[in-house]
Amino acid sequence: MTNTASAKILVFDSGVGGLSILQALQQALPGCEYTYASDNQAFPYGTKNADFLIQRVHTVLQALIEKTRPDLIVVACNTASTLVLPHIRQHFSIPIVGVVPAIKPAALLSKTGIIGLLATPGTVARPYTKNLVQEFANDCEVVSVGSAELVTLAEQSLRGTPPPLETLSGILKPLFDKHQLDTIVLACTHFPLIKDQLIKAAPRPVNWVDSGEAIARRVSTLLTNSASIKPPQYSTLHTAIFTMASNDIDLLGDALNKFDLDRIDYIQL
Ligand code: DGL
Repeated sequence: MTNTASAKILVFDSGVGGLSILQALQQALPGCEYTYASDNQAFPYGTKNADFLIQRVHTVLQALIEKTRPDLIVVACNTASTLVLPHIRQHFSIPIVGVVPAIKPAALLSKTGIIGLLATPGTVARPYTKNLVQEFANDCEVVSVGSAELVTLAEQSLRGTPPPLETLSGILKPLFDKHQLDTIVLACTHFPLIKDQLIKAAPRPVNWVDSGEAIARRVSTLLTNSASIKPPQYSTLHTAIFTMASNDIDLLGDALNKFDLDRIDYIQL
């Protein structure tokens, strides 16, 4: 088996959040060749308007596809996926898996019927998210918190600065003010990266639900069922791609090493 025979999977996010999805993918499908791409030039996505994001994700994916020729793309960003999936699926023929808020499993898990949705301001406001709630959590009360600050804290955490617990407690407060709330959806891929700290900052135990394992299962099924995608073999070639060179990337060394992303590259847009 040669390395080049492995399925090539492109995992895309605005920043480092998609590493939480990459982690689940690497655990489930260790033989694939992964490219992790961060649109750090346009980070953050959670506060940008819809028209900008649709155009931006299209442009970045186009450049990434030309450069890396992936077999499958994972848009490891709720903010982007809840908006751009129909558009990009229309334009690109490669299978695309999106990451969207795990409302359905959370509603199934909750015993009290009160669940929290922790996401970016963009994801919280999307019609797509509201439809998910209507379809899968119609009998639940959903308390939403949109926090751009939490995204920044997760970025800093992967650069070696842990988030202050009191800041996390303040962000979580509107959720825990609902005393019956028993389940929180981490509906931004950045948030599972600081889940341990969120658990510490929480005033009581709850279920924390994210999309990582479900996405890994979905990708696994697609790889198995698609004759045109090469199966996972074995690859040690994993690359991180950024849309802008920045000193800030040096601080990510440990985080990138943890995911075997030992080559760094750039695309020019
Ligand atoms: N990681 C992204 C998500 O899942 C958003 C972060 C950002 O605001 O750029 O929503």
